Amino acid sequence: MAILHPPASQEVSPSRTPVVALDLDVAGARRRIWLKLESHNPHGSLKDRTAETLWESVRDRVHPAEGVIESTSGNLGIALAARCADRGVPFTAVVDPRTSPASIAMMRRYGAQVAMVHRLDSRGGYLLSRLEYVREQIRARPNLVWSNQYENDANPRAHRERTAPELWGQIRRPATVMLAVSTGGTLAGFHQFAQRQGVPWTVVGVDVEGSLALSDEISGKRVLTGIGSSQRSAFVRSGAAPLVIVSAHEAVAACLWVLDVADIALGGSSGALVAAALRWFRLNRHDDTDIAVVCPDGGDRYLGTVYSAVWRKENIAVHPHTPRIGVLRVHREHREANSAR
Ligand SMILES: Cc1ncc(COP(=O)(O)O)c(C=O)c1O
Repeated sequence: MAILHPPASQEVSPSRTPVVALDLDVAGARRRIWLKLESHNPHGSLKDRTAETLWESVRDRVHPAEGVIESTSGNLGIALAARCADRGVPFTAVVDPRTSPASIAMMRRYGAQVAMVHRLDSRGGYLLSRLEYVREQIRARPNLVWSNQYENDANPRAHRERTAPELWGQIRRPATVMLAVSTGGTLAGFHQFAQRQGVPWTVVGVDVEGSLALSDEISGKRVLTGIGSSQRSAFVRSGAAPLVIVSAHEAVAACLWVLDVADIALGGSSGALVAAALRWFRLNRHDDTDIAVVCPDGGDRYLGTVYSAVWRKENIAVHPHTPRIGVLRVHREHREANSAR
C-alpha cells in the first residue's frame, strides 16, 4: 500500500497547497471532487495556517521565558511548536492519550514541553480536561500566554483571509465546499469569506458521530482524532451552515477508497469529507455543482489508526466497505497551486 508523506521542509510559513481534481462517473453523470491537500504545508497540516495567525495575534504579549501554551489534538501542537522554536520561545502542548505518538514526537523534536492529561471528560473526550489544565497553568503562571484556538478570531481569520481566497483562486467556480469541524475555525473562516466576498459557494460543515461541535446531543462514540469536539464551536452559530454527520466507519472506508482509486493517503477528517461528498452526490443527483473538500492532513499521521487493520478491527467493528457509489471511471488532474494564478 503506497502511503504518500508530506514533503519535508524547513520553511515555517504555510505554502500554497495543491488541489487534485477527481472526476467521477456517478451513475452516468460526471461529477467532480476537488481535494485541497493541506498535508503539503511545511508541517503537514492545515493547522500551519492557524498557527501563523494565532502567533501573529499573541506575539506582542509573549514573555521570552514563559512562552505560549495551547491545547491540541496534534496538528496545531506541531505547527505552534515549530513556530515557537523558530522564534526562540518556549511552547507547552497540552495533549491527551488519543494524540498519536508520532505527533508527540514531532512536537518534542521542536523543543515543545508536552503535558498529557489522562482524565476523560464528562462527554467522553479529553478536551474539557485539557482546557482545565491550560486554565490552571495560566492562573499559576501569569506571564504564560494561551493562544486559545477555541475563541481567538485569529483562527477563522487564517481561513477567511488566506485558505479560502487561495482555494477560490485555484478553482474559480461555484462549488459546494466541505470543511471538517473541530473548533469550527476553518468552517467559520470559509463561511465568512463566501458571504463577504459574494463567492458562489455553499459552505458545508462535516462532523463525526459523538461530537458536540455543532450538535446539542452526543450521538455515539468518537474514535477519530482531529475532527469533532467535546464542546460547542464558539465560531459557528447553530444552523449557520448545513451540516453532514458521518460515522468513523464511513470516514475510514472513504480513506481506503481514495487510496485505492487515486493513490492518495488522506487523514481521517479528510476521509469524513470525502464520505460526506459521496453522500451529497447521491442525495443531490440533479445538482451538478462541483464539491471541494479541504483535506486537513495526510495519511502519514494515521498509520497506527485508519491505515492499521488491527486498529480498524478494534475500533470500528466492521470491515470498511468501499463506498457504494457507481464509480465507473476515475480520472486524476493535478493542479499545482501556482498554476492557477
Ligand atoms: C485533522 C484535522 N481535522 C479537522 C480540522 C478542522 O479543525 P477546526 O474546526 O479547528 O478548524 C483540522 C484543522 O486543521 C485538522 O487538522
